[in-house]
Amino acid sequence: MDWIKVCDEKSLNDGDLIGFDYQDNVDNKRKKLLIAKIHGKIYATDAICTHEYAELTNGFLNEEEKTVTCPLHLSVFNLDNGSPLNPPAEKPLKTYEVKVKEDDGGVYVLLKY
Ligand code: FES
Repeated sequence: MDWIKVCDEKSLNDGDLIGFDYQDNVDNKRKKLLIAKIHGKIYATDAICTHEYAELTNGFLNEEEKTVTCPLHLSVFNLDNGSPLNPPAEKPLKTYEVKVKEDDGGVYVLLKY
């Protein structure tokens, strides 16, 4: 397990939806995380839709519902637990623990290998 820094907390505003690319040490592939901030809380999930290949960072954030909508076929995912709320997506998105470190003000995401 590794905490990786994805951005500075002060650069992330409420309503922001950004992507972060990283190298997965297990299967040696490039992967993408979605980072979103809603009402001061930061969420991290996989950035690729579980239905087909679409980047959810190009989708739509709903701050009231705390969801992201896939730009390709419009499945909606809960950012807290990754569950899809409507078809065609059926599998949940992976979600990640997030913390802000006091010493450098960085946003860190816990990757579980
Ligand atoms: S690719 Fe996301 S719902 Fe189809």
